[in-house]
Amino acid sequence: MKSSVVTPIKKKRQVERRATNVVWHELLVDKATRSQIKEQHPCLLWFTGLSGAGKSTIANIVEKKLNAKGKHTYLLDGDNVRYGLNKDLGFTDEERIENIRRVGEVAKLFVDAGIITIASFISPFRSDRRLVRNLFEEDEFIEVFVSAPLELCEQRDPKGLYKKARAGEIPHFTGIDSPYETPEREHIILSTDTLTAEQCADQLINYMVDNGFID
Ligand code: ADX
Repeated sequence: MKSSVVTPIKKKRQVERRATNVVWHELLVDKATRSQIKEQHPCLLWFTGLSGAGKSTIANIVEKKLNAKGKHTYLLDGDNVRYGLNKDLGFTDEERIENIRRVGEVAKLFVDAGIITIASFISPFRSDRRLVRNLFEEDEFIEVFVSAPLELCEQRDPKGLYKKARAGEIPHFTGIDSPYETPEREHIILSTDTLTAEQCADQLINYMVDNGFID
């Protein structure tokens, strides 16, 4: 049986796991060079909103539209990333914070690679969204609030999760027993209670054109 006692050796190993004595390497090929080849302006579209608000649906349509315009994109989706990179994380506040921190860093690498990156995560806490935003230049980041009232998301309940959460089968469910902090600094609001997903996607593409993110 494994002992849970932290011996000095174990403690030393834990400390060593943290990155110390690392030196940043300047790379010969940089973000500008990479994006020049693609003839595009790399950026991050950060979708936030309640489960069932329509984030993933709109993000998918937006990616398709950008691809049709010849843009090289990548979509990081909350559920999918939790199958791999973040499969060790659950839904406590601490785990959500770590989820968003990792995804922010991954998105930064994608943008550095010259790619128009779309991230679709509930990302319920303002402070985490601010941390992600601070990883990017102002002309590289768009916070997209996909907005729908909780009652409507619960009515839609596309994955049957609200029902389970109400029955007490899913703890820490956003909007039920875990908070969602409505954005105060979003660049654009897509209201899925009044517009279709297609209309919302067009609204975002128009925003990108109007603000010089794409031609
Ligand atoms: S976040 O809060 O950490 O940003 P994330 O976007 O990665 O969440 O994952 C949300 C998805 O996980 C939801 O779309 C839903 O399918 C699923 N899920 C499972 N448990 C929960 C929960 N307790 N709260 C919210 N979503 C959950």
